Amino acid sequence: MESFDVVDLIRAKRDGGTLSTPQIDWLIDAYTRGLVADEQMSAMTMAIFLNGMGREEIRDLTAAMIASGERLDFSHLATPTADKHSTGGVGDKITLPLAPLVASFGVAVPQLSGRGLGHTGGTLDKLESIPGWRASLTNAEFHRQLESVGAVICAAGSGLAPADGRLYALRDITGTVESIPLIASSIMSKKIAEGTAALVLDVKFGSGAFLREEARARELAETMVRLGQDAGVATRALLTDMNTPLGRTIGNANEVRESVEVLAGGGPADIVELTVALAREMLDLAGRPDADPGAALRDGRAMDTWRAMIAAQGGDPDAALPAPSETHTVTAERDGVLLEQRALPFGIAAWRLGAGRARKEDAVVHSAGIDLHAKPGDTVRRGDPLFTLAAEDPARFDRALEALEGAYRIGDDGDRSAAPGPLIRDRVG
Ligand code: URA
Repeated sequence: MESFDVVDLIRAKRDGGTLSTPQIDWLIDAYTRGLVADEQMSAMTMAIFLNGMGREEIRDLTAAMIASGERLDFSHLATPTADKHSTGGVGDKITLPLAPLVASFGVAVPQLSGRGLGHTGGTLDKLESIPGWRASLTNAEFHRQLESVGAVICAAGSGLAPADGRLYALRDITGTVESIPLIASSIMSKKIAEGTAALVLDVKFGSGAFLREEARARELAETMVRLGQDAGVATRALLTDMNTPLGRTIGNANEVRESVEVLAGGGPADIVELTVALAREMLDLAGRPDADPGAALRDGRAMDTWRAMIAAQGGDPDAALPAPSETHTVTAERDGVLLEQRALPFGIAAWRLGAGRARKEDAVVHSAGIDLHAKPGDTVRRGDPLFTLAAEDPARFDRALEALEGAYRIGDDGDRSAAPGPLIRDRVG
């Protein structure tokens, strides 16, 4: 591989230049091997953050990160594969009902997931509330389960796009996370290396999302769809509103409970709507356009796949989920309509209760979180419960309540016009 002087590359990007394919290949390879220092890569990510990247550069960056590790291959499977990725939100447990739902139609779902950091939850943290369930599988276990059950949700090994692991940790501490070229290449390098043939992206905008503005989320969606398609993965995205928490639970064990309700044919309307919409896109890309995932949820068909998926990873689908030792319920201070319930403060409050972690090595408290008794648009009477905080340590309630100051608003019926728009705003790809 041709080699370069990293300072020349940093200067070029700082001054608004374009990096060539060999330059990007060298940069990512040298950084992965420890030949480029973290301080130099920090300067480079800041230059990218400030000056952006062109289409070819983003494609090259993604390819170089894929090449830094292994690439899985499911082409030997008799069934098609489809996966989904969400850019992260509050109360976003959609993967839990979605993976077994899609698998129940004979489309394999190889879902390599992460843990939560900050106010957005992680799928693995949620599933680990199920007694016995384990997130780490060997490659052989992963393949066996994909063939026998059709759905696997497990931890991504360190072998997939390792350059992204290092780069993401660096971006996290240098204020360079919210850059479209960097987010798009980070997510897509892992998803392309994962080997799925079809991919549906849930790209969120709003107060509880990485990107607040819908226009920026759309640009991210378009960038990722292009990257997927260029790499031969059938890719599509839904643009979805993350201003309000999804469903009626934010946490870990409570989110599993709600997911099981959805698989049993119940659950909150927004969770059902998004699960069905994403399932429909995945099934369409996998060659099953006539499948009816809504009917499958209503009649509980996907529950068998859920139970098999949990049991295959050591979990007991019938075991009681951890329950909190302390709760605190907040009630409505007046009659009216719940007009607003902002995702970010609710996410931060759940995190402060112990549902999330501040550092990668922290443990989460599976029973901690928030149950929402009312959703925007609901009529409430003075004294009605609005939400319940759950924690193991009651000393956590004050800091959570502080985060929730001004986070919800009860108004008069006539103010309903301020109600949020549709949950699913658009489709890209
Ligand atoms: N998720 C990722 O994997 N990478 C990012 O950059 C942002 C969200």
